[in-house]
Parts: sequence; C-alpha cells; structure tokens
Amino acid sequence: MTTAVYPGTFDPITHGHTDLIERASPLFSKVIIGIAESAGKKPLFSLNERIALVREATSHIANVEIAGFNNLLTDFLQKRQARVIIRGLRAVSDFEYEFQMANMNRALAPDIESLFLMTAERYAYISSTLVREIASMQGNISQFVDVAVQDALQKKFSAR
Ligand code: COA
Repeated sequence: MTTAVYPGTFDPITHGHTDLIERASPLFSKVIIGIAESAGKKPLFSLNERIALVREATSHIANVEIAGFNNLLTDFLQKRQARVIIRGLRAVSDFEYEFQMANMNRALAPDIESLFLMTAERYAYISSTLVREIASMQGNISQFVDVAVQDALQKKFSAR
C-alpha cells in the first residue's frame, strides 16, 4: 500500500487542485497534501490559513491527510514514509518546470518517483495567482474555488 504526497503552495487551493486530489485518492492508500510554507513566494495566506482552507475544500475525500512543511520535499516524503510525489499538468507550459523539479528530486532521492496526472480540461486554465487577482478586484471566483476559499479571499481583500 503506497502513500503519495501532493505538494504545493495552495495559495489558495482551487478546484484544479481538488480535481487532482480526487483523481489521486483511489490510486493510493493515503494521499498527504503537503503544503509548502513557500516563504519566497510571499503567500497571501499564512501556512495555517492555507492548511485550514485545504481541510475545508477536501473534507469530502476519505484517505487524505494534510500537513505543512518547510524543509526539502524529498526529506518530507522520507519522514512520512511516502515514495510517490504527485504533480498535476495543466498545459505544455507546466512541463519544463515540472521536468526540472522531478529530475532534481530524483537526484536528491532516487527511490522517490514523481507521477503526473492531467488536470481536467475545465480547470486547465486556473491558477492561484489569477484567482487572487480576480478576487482582489471583486470579480466572481465562485466557479474556481470552494465557498470557504471565496469567503477567506473576500475577508482578506476587504480588510486591506
Ligand atoms: N489546477 C489548478 N492550478 C494548479 C494546478 C491544478 N491542478 N496545479 C498547479 N496549479 C497552479 C497553482 O495554483 C500555482 O499557481 P500560481 O503560481 O499562480 O500561484 C502554480 O500552478 C504552481 O503552484 P503549485 O502547484 O502550488 O506548486 P508550487 O510551484 O508553488 O510548489 C513545491 C512547488 C512546493 C512543490 C516546490 O517548491 C517544493 O518542493 N518546495 C519545497 C522545497 C524543495 O524541496 N525544493 C526543491 C525542489 S526540486
């Protein structure tokens, strides 16, 4: 029985991410959603806020665990005894970055495999950056994110 880690910044989680987690869930005994602190990306939401939003948006998926991390992804997997990294591919443009990251992770930990799942076409154009931008200008993001994320974004931007 294999445990997989789906890593990302999730600032915030979108339906594109959730779609991928739903696809991965039946393939593994456990899917750990690894939320990277990603301080370099200067996230809009704190790590704890992102963890809470991921928890809300994935509460309907049974074999999911959520954990924050601020170390190397390969070290995080080894600590959690996971051997598979799941990443989503939305378009050809994702490939170069994913190719580089997968090879780097393989150099660091040859026993860990990266697996790529295709995001559903209807979510292929979503990104957290675009969702944040639309929300900051009071646009309607209801078709892209969970209700909890909508509320959190609304609060974030009305407080500014
Ligand atoms: N649907 C919709 N959007 C998706 C998506 C999907 N299925 N998959 C990715 N995205 C979007 C995200 O919303 C994000 O958008 P943004 O850049 O506009 O915010 C973008 O694609 C990529 O983000 P994400 O998937 O969260 O990955 P990331 O690049 O932020 O995360 C880590 C990369 C965290 C996995 C990587 O930095 C890491 O492993 N960090 C730990 C430190 C480490 O080990 N470094 C060495 C790595 S070789």
